[in-house]
Amino acid sequence: MKWFKIDEVPAGDKPFIKKVKAGSKSICLVSFESKLYATAARCPHAGADMSEGLCVRRMIVCPYHRYTYNLETGKGGEGQNDFIATYPVEVRDDGVYIGVPSFWDKIVGK
Ligand code: FES
Repeated sequence: MKWFKIDEVPAGDKPFIKKVKAGSKSICLVSFESKLYATAARCPHAGADMSEGLCVRRMIVCPYHRYTYNLETGKGGEGQNDFIATYPVEVRDDGVYIGVPSFWDKIVGK
C-alpha cells in the first residue's frame, strides 16, 4: 500500500465531494458527517464522474443514473450487484493521506 498526501482538502467539518489525485490515480474524496471517505472517481456502471454526485445516508449517489454505493464498503445498492473501489483515508498530524494498493498488494491480498 502506498500512501499519498492530499493537499487540496477543504478545512472544517463542512460536507464535500471532491476529485483529487493520489499519485496518478483519480479518487473521489468525500466528507460526510465529519468523516472522510475515498472511492474511485469513475462510476462502475457507465463511467460518470462520482465527484459530481451527492451523498445520502452514507451512500454516494452517481450523478448519471442515481446508482448508490456504500461509502465504507463500496457495495452497490440493492439490486445493483456491483461495487465501487474504496480506499483507506488517514488524517495525520501533517494532513490527509489516501492509501492506494499496488498491483502486487492486490495479487497477494494485502
Ligand atoms: S454511470 Fe453511474 S449509475 Fe450509471
